[in-house]
Amino acid sequence: MEEKIAELKAQAAEAIAKTANNLSDLNDIRVRFLGKKGEFTSILRGMGALAKEDRPKVGKVINEAKAQIEELIAQKNEELKARALEEKIASEHIDVTLPGRQQPLGHLHPLTLTLERIKDIFVHMGFSVEEGPEIERDYFNFEALNLPKDHPARDMQDSFYITDEILMRSQTSPVQARTMQKNDPNTPIRMIAPGRVYRRDEYDATHSPMFTQVEGLVIDKGISLADLKGTLELFLHQIFNENIGVRFRPSFFPFTEPSAEVDISCVMCHGKGCKVCKGTGWLEILGAGMVHPHVLEMSGYDPSVVSGFAFGMGVERIAMLSYGVDDLRLFYDNDLRFLSQF
Ligand code: PHE
Repeated sequence: MEEKIAELKAQAAEAIAKTANNLSDLNDIRVRFLGKKGEFTSILRGMGALAKEDRPKVGKVINEAKAQIEELIAQKNEELKARALEEKIASEHIDVTLPGRQQPLGHLHPLTLTLERIKDIFVHMGFSVEEGPEIERDYFNFEALNLPKDHPARDMQDSFYITDEILMRSQTSPVQARTMQKNDPNTPIRMIAPGRVYRRDEYDATHSPMFTQVEGLVIDKGISLADLKGTLELFLHQIFNENIGVRFRPSFFPFTEPSAEVDISCVMCHGKGCKVCKGTGWLEILGAGMVHPHVLEMSGYDPSVVSGFAFGMGVERIAMLSYGVDDLRLFYDNDLRFLSQF
């Protein structure tokens, strides 16, 4: 009996020393030797076969052996825990002397940058910035702007219809009609409306079926063509440069009368004539005019009391001219080689 105990003790000690590589192995060993169904329990059960006077002695040996194994397990337990902690620390080691990783930083799109500059200039002149839906009612996009259903000028903006009465807006002018109808006719308006517009068009170096527009509207008592000229000249001098030439040519828009096309002297050749300005020395940059009395009336304003002017420009064109970009499609390609230059 005692030999058997000594042998078990040795087996247990060896198992603890050599095969317990982690806490769960160690627990298996404990169960195997000391558990309810373990080796020592079965020896204890066999005690009944011993002579009565031998039992206390053997019992004592068993208990001592068990206590020693417990002790070995406890030691090993500490050891394994310490090792696990060391491993964890080693695996989480951070070298604080390494250089930081650089995060690439993006920036605003050139069209957004141009739009921000345009907005800034007008906000400084006291204009508010108004927005409206890109999916618009025919009424606001055309009718309220003096373009009834069969008006031939609609052909210039042959557009994307969703139903007979709803379309992708072909201009941001509907925001002007919306603002006029929202506004009390006795309070003046000074607003710009930036946003995307949609027209059935080619997709080439200078055209796109989707582009960005900024339109403006001023209504008050006594607004004249001189106010229109002064405002647009100031704007063009600020967005391009102080010395740029500005000229107004008579034109036609259904919602303005008189109407004008506004040119700047060519930013490439400074008026001498080149490929970009097709030898004329001038570049068309804006449409503008005095708000048609009919448009004022339709939105509840009395043309005998107030007058106003309106203008509209393409943001892509202004960005192309101010950055020297020769293909409009570059703005939509999302090519980082292009975009990272701004
Ligand atoms: N809405 C016109 C266009 O898109 C531009 C414009 C606006 C012209 C206001 C005159 C006055 O062509």
